[in-house]
Amino acid sequence: MKNISLLFILTAVFFSCKKEATVTSINDPITTKVDSLLAIMTLEEKVGQMNQYNGFWNVTGPAPKEGDAAARYDDLRNGRVGSMLNVTGVEEVRKVQKIAVEESRLGIPLIIGFDVIHGYKTISPIPLAEAASWNMELIRRSAEVAAREAAASGINWTFAPMVDISRDARWGRVMEGAGEDPYLGSLIAAARVTGFQGDDLSSPLTIAACAKHFAGYGFSEAGRDYNTVDVGTSTLYNTILPPFKAAKEAGVRTFMNSFNILNGIPATGNALLQRDILKGDWDFSGFVVSDWGTIDEMISHGYAKDGKDAALKAIKAGSDMDMESYHYLNHLKELVENGAVKEGLIDDAVRRILRLKFELGLFDDPYKYCDPEREQEIVGSDEHHAAVLEMAKNSIVLLKNENDLLPLKKEGLNIALIGPLADDKTSPLGNWRIAADDSTAVSVLEGLNAYDGNRITHRQGVKLIEGTPSFTRETLINTTDRSGISQAVAAARGKDAVIMVLGEHGFLSGEARSRASLDLPGLQQELLEAVYKVNKNVILVLMNGRPLTINWADKNIPAIVEAWQLGSESGHAIAQVLYGDHTPSGKLPMTFPKDVGQLPLYYNYMNTGRPNTNNPGEVFWSHYIDMENTPLYPFGHGLSYTSFKYDKLKISKDSIQDEEVLEVSFELTNTGERTGTETAQLYIRDHVASRTRPVKELKKFMQVILKPGETQTIIMTISEEDLAFYTDHNRWQAETGNFSIFIGGSSETSLDTSFYYKNNIF
Ligand code: NOJ
Repeated sequence: MKNISLLFILTAVFFSCKKEATVTSINDPITTKVDSLLAIMTLEEKVGQMNQYNGFWNVTGPAPKEGDAAARYDDLRNGRVGSMLNVTGVEEVRKVQKIAVEESRLGIPLIIGFDVIHGYKTISPIPLAEAASWNMELIRRSAEVAAREAAASGINWTFAPMVDISRDARWGRVMEGAGEDPYLGSLIAAARVTGFQGDDLSSPLTIAACAKHFAGYGFSEAGRDYNTVDVGTSTLYNTILPPFKAAKEAGVRTFMNSFNILNGIPATGNALLQRDILKGDWDFSGFVVSDWGTIDEMISHGYAKDGKDAALKAIKAGSDMDMESYHYLNHLKELVENGAVKEGLIDDAVRRILRLKFELGLFDDPYKYCDPEREQEIVGSDEHHAAVLEMAKNSIVLLKNENDLLPLKKEGLNIALIGPLADDKTSPLGNWRIAADDSTAVSVLEGLNAYDGNRITHRQGVKLIEGTPSFTRETLINTTDRSGISQAVAAARGKDAVIMVLGEHGFLSGEARSRASLDLPGLQQELLEAVYKVNKNVILVLMNGRPLTINWADKNIPAIVEAWQLGSESGHAIAQVLYGDHTPSGKLPMTFPKDVGQLPLYYNYMNTGRPNTNNPGEVFWSHYIDMENTPLYPFGHGLSYTSFKYDKLKISKDSIQDEEVLEVSFELTNTGERTGTETAQLYIRDHVASRTRPVKELKKFMQVILKPGETQTIIMTISEEDLAFYTDHNRWQAETGNFSIFIGGSSETSLDTSFYYKNNIF
């Protein structure tokens, strides 16, 4: 009897949806469908759509506090769940979807979320590494590959991209973002959203993206994860928000709020962020999911007195879906019934959630992501491995290469390969690769062994970590066991070259992995120095999830290759670079400090009232008495196996006004002996403004491939849009005044000129 009446209701709804779609809402048939469905939902069912449960199989936050698997199945049946996370694989997804669709009263399908951050099974470089490619097409493609694999495994929503700007390498999650620059970060945000979502969200090979963490999470005090964030208007609007805006403009369908407080108000309860800026000024039509338990955490923040108060504050502030706090489920109905929350707020949130479910095509076929044959065919395909290899090669940054030690000859060399990460097949996968299997990356040893002309002797030297590290457990660093150092030194003695693979284990960066020191962890520095004593021809290959302080290596080691954590094809990419089959072209998306005490350190800093006067002996200026202000490697730095010369900088006019465009041209010449790719960078400085502006801001860049001896004239343009910032009048505007232009191969530019801009409107 129950089934017959349900069937009748559903048929009537969908029939009427279709009918109304053709008659009344030609422009937006989805709105009609959403409204029709909403009209027959009970308040409890609406609240159910706003609840997201973890799947119990895989945990990416503190263990769920309430319920067990059986209770969660019951909640699915009773329409009390709108989304699940961490349920993967077509079989598992089909199981939960079937309950939601076939056993709940209205049969509303679940949206299935997962942290597809840099690949699903086939793993791409960590996002910070990808950012070092400055190659938007490769980054887009990497997200597309990740989306294809995830979608083929039952998932239709990723919690990515993380677009948090970060300037403090102590924060473990710098590995997950695009670095310190809002312009580069904005381009990358858009590329990733486009890659995940494609141009057809209803395709079974694309998934919805999520711009996170809204907002300010990357600015946690002292780089300690989850810590307080306190930033002014200028930093919020000019630095933190632009990549979120770019993601929105690229069509991202969801946002995730964040753990932190922002200027005293938790992001989850922050109406300025979620209601005024995102849903108001930016007119965002998608929905906002809380981060894991953040509604509940408002109690610990001292912003809500209990779960009910937290639910009230979160819904009012514009958080639409509750990830793992249960406070919406437990309190929203009562809050509406006693008049504290208007049902209109609930309707708005549910509309947004249902809209995405329609856009994904889940109402047409809730099992569209659950085809086992497609899963088999797509996940881990050769095509995907080729894509992540290409991404990996282009993510590598050559930090130093004295006397052209690199590339190495492919034949006749006797090489020692040393270090705890040299044969590691797990660390290169990095953090946030939860669907990938351990030990599936190509190690450096395997990569080098794919070339058979040289003799490789491998020694670990020291262990980096104790035990088997995992995403959900603290990783312990070996600080005592030196037993392998002497064997490593013996192996290095007399060899033509020594390749040392050192850095961080994959689980030493990522969520909750803040570090107070940025030195090589454990006994690796000791190992490096011991080996260097017997052989000076050391090539240091760094694997790490964040900038490290490697001053000693920079002073002593002739060649340093930043290889981050490059994913499934890591070893192949590194070997191809070491042997010159790929000429490195990556550029740092984040400044490398000399000392952790310099942090936060970034290239686009403000001048201060007391900048360096270069007067010897001067004391009263903004500096440290025991350390320079300058970085070890600046933002934008990255060498090649060839060299480039920048010359003949010209601008089309000395002054422009309003929407006029300034043409900037210069010559770029390959002055070396190999073909190479250079990323030419253009920075500006706005000298006097209603809010102080950074000493340099990246505004344009271009990647150019040049043959030896070849010169190309590069033209870039600057217009009002590039000069605009969030002014003291609280609007985006380019202000009248003098500007400098700087050109070069890093933020330490080599050429400059200036022009005048006149804004006649303001
Ligand atoms: C917490 C993280 O901050 C967030 O980025 C992630 O998406 C969720 N956990 C879900 O795993």
